[in-house]
Amino acid sequence: MKVTALIILGCLVWEGTAKPGFPEQEKDPEFWKEWAQRTLKNALTLQDLNKNVAKNIILFLGDGMGIPTVTAARILKGQLNGQNGEETQLEMDKFPYVALSKTYNTNAQVPDSAGTATAYLCGVKANEGTVGVNAAAVKSQCNTTRGNEVTSILKWAKDAGKSVGIVTTTRVNHATPSAAYAHCVERDWYSDGEMPDEALQSGCKDIARQLFENIPDIDVIMGGGRKYMYPRNTPDVEYPGDKKHNGTRKDGRNLVKEWTDRMKDKRGSYVWNRKDLVSLNPNNVDYLLGLFEPGDLPYELERNKETDPSLTEMVDVAIKILKKNERGFYLLVEGGRIDHGHHDGKAKLALHEAVEMDRAITRAGLLTSIYDTLSVVTADHSHVFSFGGYTHRGNSIFGLAPTMSDIDQKPFTSILYGNGPGFKLVNGARENVSAVDYTSHSLAFLVCLITIPQHRSKQLPGTSCCSLEIGDSWR
Ligand SMILES: *[C@@H]1O[C@H](CO)[C@@H](O)[C@H](O)[C@H]1NC(C)=O
Ligand SMILES: *[C@@H]1O[C@H](CO)[C@@H](O)[C@H](O)[C@H]1NC(C)=O
Ligand SMILES: *[C@@H]1O[C@H](CO)[C@@H](O)[C@H](O)[C@H]1NC(C)=O
Repeated sequence: MKVTALIILGCLVWEGTAKPGFPEQEKDPEFWKEWAQRTLKNALTLQDLNKNVAKNIILFLGDGMGIPTVTAARILKGQLNGQNGEETQLEMDKFPYVALSKTYNTNAQVPDSAGTATAYLCGVKANEGTVGVNAAAVKSQCNTTRGNEVTSILKWAKDAGKSVGIVTTTRVNHATPSAAYAHCVERDWYSDGEMPDEALQSGCKDIARQLFENIPDIDVIMGGGRKYMYPRNTPDVEYPGDKKHNGTRKDGRNLVKEWTDRMKDKRGSYVWNRKDLVSLNPNNVDYLLGLFEPGDLPYELERNKETDPSLTEMVDVAIKILKKNERGFYLLVEGGRIDHGHHDGKAKLALHEAVEMDRAITRAGLLTSIYDTLSVVTADHSHVFSFGGYTHRGNSIFGLAPTMSDIDQKPFTSILYGNGPGFKLVNGARENVSAVDYTSHSLAFLVCLITIPQHRSKQLPGTSCCSLEIGDSWR
């Protein structure tokens, strides 16, 4: 059974190439009527509900992947295939069921990835910035942890004898994955090196440590975050000359070595680069720890394809290992850097992350069966990301709108952010973007250009303009 949290389009794959414009057949009303019939017939088959009990569950979480992001990613996927884009189907569009959810945190209207992860993994809404604790726990206050721990579906699955896994493009101890195994009042306590002495003295544990201590032997762990596992001053294996990637631990522990020692007789493998990952034989590996970067993995668009695996490659290996368990498995897959691209106002990076997560969903579908596997695709929160401006069919999703702004008679990109770092004044006026390379990976898209009154934009040059929340830190 497959469930996605978003809207489903019809089911037609169209093979047109003309751009701009649209396929000739769309001028024929019969085309649309046949499409509607196919969609309706398909919907009627859903009345034969798949009532099998799921043995396996895969949860795909697109961090920050709100509905406008899904729509834009759909168009991008089609455009990467040489099509107009709008008619494309994402893998998640093919899922038969859709739902919407309300994602607020107990103390926040706009939630963060920590409080939301606690909600969808542990079933309990929680405060912003906290993971695996209920709303009686107060952010950053160590002494509110004890007694307020809540457990996750990953633990419930492990307790039921299933294999369990976590795959993310962020640090493995980042907000989303950490709610699956940690109980921490502060999402930023990645290792004890990030914790205040007071919290350490009061007995609170850092998240990296909890990854290995709370749930014994999580079967598959893949993502970034290597530096949080090693003692301070330990140079990183991949970047030994770069001091900012040194280990961060104050307690002197080497969590990777502790793990590999414990796994000696258990067919466990530790890998830190793509080559070692793809050369593993999943039949010979029962436990896998893959830490591919000191911090987060690179964006898909900037990935070194020799040294870092894609999300799809990680998901492929994870499922092959986990599905060996006859009792089934639970796998959490996070497209974690959709969110980071959006925080930076870099829509191109964000949308390529979303398309890559969709590829991973396709791969997972090929490795599992709808008769025993429940797949869910959802997001934890949205972003102030939008696109508009009456763009024509097949317009580059990163392109300009076809008309000028009513306010200043200058062109504008279809994609806009409501806040964040993209706002820029040139000689006291909005930049003329017609000469800007909007295909660049790192262009920060414009912010709120239609709605900013001139006097306000002058008050806040180069920063945020429409909202108090500035999207400049990766949450
Ligand atoms: C808990 O710790 C906070 C500081 O983080 C302190 O202000 C408070 O008094 C402590 N509460 C108790 C009950 O010890
Ligand atoms: C990083 O590790 C190296 C090698 O141990 C050491 O010389 C250097 O001082 C460390 N730098 C920082 C910032 O910890
Ligand atoms: C914007 O720049 C283009 C050329 O790059 C120019 O043709 C156009 O007149 C400019 N518009 C304004 C309003 O300055």
